[in-house]
Amino acid sequence: MRIRTFDEYQTAYQKSVEDPESFWAEIAQEFQWTKPWTKTLQWNFNEPNIKWFVGGKLNITENCLDRHLATQGDEPAIIWEPNDPNEAGVTLTYRMLHDQVCRFANVLKRNGVVKGDRVCIYMPMVPELAIAVLACARIGAIHSVVFGGFSAQSIADRINDAQCKLIITSDGAYRGNKEIPMKNTVDDALIGCPSVKRVIVLTRTRTPVSMLKGRDVWWEQELKQVTADCPAEVMDAEDMLFILYTSGSTGKPKGVVHTCGGYMVYAAYTFQNVFQYEKDGPTGRQVFFCTADIGWITGHSYIVYGPLACGGTSLIFEGVPTYPDAGRFWDIVDKHKVNTLYTAPTAIRSLMGFGLDKVENHDLSSLQVLGSVGEPINEEAWHWYDDHIGKNNCPIVDTWWQTETGGILISPLAGITKTKPSYATLPLPGVQPILVDENGVEIEGNGVSGNLCMKFPWPGILRTTYGDHERCRQTYFATYPGLYFTGDGCMRDEDGYYRITGRVDDVLNVSGHRIGTAEVENAINMHTGVVESAVVGYPHDIKGQGIYAYIIAEQFPEGHDADLTKRDILATVTRVIGPIAKPDKIQFVTGLPKTRSGKIMRRILRKIAEGETSNMGDTSTLLDPAVVEDIMKGAL
Ligand code: WTA
Repeated sequence: MRIRTFDEYQTAYQKSVEDPESFWAEIAQEFQWTKPWTKTLQWNFNEPNIKWFVGGKLNITENCLDRHLATQGDEPAIIWEPNDPNEAGVTLTYRMLHDQVCRFANVLKRNGVVKGDRVCIYMPMVPELAIAVLACARIGAIHSVVFGGFSAQSIADRINDAQCKLIITSDGAYRGNKEIPMKNTVDDALIGCPSVKRVIVLTRTRTPVSMLKGRDVWWEQELKQVTADCPAEVMDAEDMLFILYTSGSTGKPKGVVHTCGGYMVYAAYTFQNVFQYEKDGPTGRQVFFCTADIGWITGHSYIVYGPLACGGTSLIFEGVPTYPDAGRFWDIVDKHKVNTLYTAPTAIRSLMGFGLDKVENHDLSSLQVLGSVGEPINEEAWHWYDDHIGKNNCPIVDTWWQTETGGILISPLAGITKTKPSYATLPLPGVQPILVDENGVEIEGNGVSGNLCMKFPWPGILRTTYGDHERCRQTYFATYPGLYFTGDGCMRDEDGYYRITGRVDDVLNVSGHRIGTAEVENAINMHTGVVESAVVGYPHDIKGQGIYAYIIAEQFPEGHDADLTKRDILATVTRVIGPIAKPDKIQFVTGLPKTRSGKIMRRILRKIAEGETSNMGDTSTLLDPAVVEDIMKGAL
């Protein structure tokens, strides 16, 4: 399944379009199946109904763990770097990881989890997080990992949507110089979650936590009760592997569902080809460092499943890039001789600001490939990454994809595809992008822009949104019938290279995190005294996008009172969603620009947030055009 030259890429691409079934069947054969599939693909994008490797049986953990024991049982699967550089790290070989996953899978069974049950995981970036994820997969339980920065309310919403039976957490978490009370947050969440019967608590910070009899048990105590013998549950290729919640333009986050077979094949194939990962490189065992959190799709696919399915070595970092100082990433690269670094533009931009001396006192010569993910990378950041981290000697793969796509769709193959700053370049084999205009008419040729859609399924595409298939259809497959709509705008240049320009819907991308404007508005509106609000994004030097909130208060707050109210609103948003959704700017207004039918004209609000002071375009459809003048006067 390995592509090594641009010619091979072109051949593979052509084959994947002409005969997708045999293309993917050949790749899937490289994995371990308990029973082969009978039909490689069944699909339609109308219902939608998408099935890969129909009738095939497997367990992803046999592919990620057992399969490697004989050949590389003593090679490192996971290297863990703690938050505090002075604390000892952990290296888990494949044998050790297999042992721990089996033991913890038995713990889950002991606590009543059976195949098909949903298990919520809310943990810091410790090896036990990966172990918990894999243990679920081992016994066919469906994991729903919730990012550690989300609030109790957000955890509760996700638990209730999926009716999780059990949650795995830790007493606390270390993040930079902060200690975060994870179990406390879970306790708050569980007040409203009757489906949860058990809480398994890992010891990390040894902070005092309440442990309820009959509900809460310690990870370490439980482990003493089990053996390391846990046969893998035989799963259907189309059984659910996990749910991951993500934001859209409307309503609450939805649970994107990925299934066992297709997801595995796609995560592994893209991992190997995009990064050109060789487990045994010329300088020995290659170390892959993805800086994302396992709470996001990037962590699922390129910290856990992709690297392990390929028998690779994946580095998990618990902390933040600026602790103890802004040289921490470079310190880790140097210390663990990292070969591939996969991070987000927002991290690059923030580290750029700390100057080169933080970089230059480290040996980065082990680096061979650099990756970027999560948001468009601006040219300045691209060049800084190339010049100062890669020393103009490491290809940069700007990987475009989404929670819904399971793995990377558009990206250079490291060292194979000619790169161009800020371009995700070309579709991977099996990926058929198409640009359409507002009416869904295909925009052909090069040197064009449009809305990015896919016209054919790849194995990693989402299958449904948990508990609400109609929402999946509406969100992704109804805008342009017959196509999967990504929600992104995109340009295809004269060379046929793709450049993703950002979301065309009401989804913000703040520091690489996806946040729906409607979600933030709902949170703001929960604050007593808020009548109505409208949230838009604006360009932010480091975060990519900042959050700008226009708020109508019951009583227009002035002076010190306004500051206090703003702080209360921020606290409310933190309580309802989490700190990542806090607006960067809040402007109190007396009215919002609405059309006669009551729709907020966000276009105008976006312009004002971007600093535009005139030229608001056509405002003739507004109910009260004078509102715009007022808002402009108070713009921040
Ligand atoms: C954006 C993250 C430009 C895009 C893997 C997409 C990108 C959303 C890139 C998905 C990139 C991701 N260039 N934009 N290389 N990668 N995006 O679901 O808007 O957290 O729709 O998945 O991030 O975010 P998600």
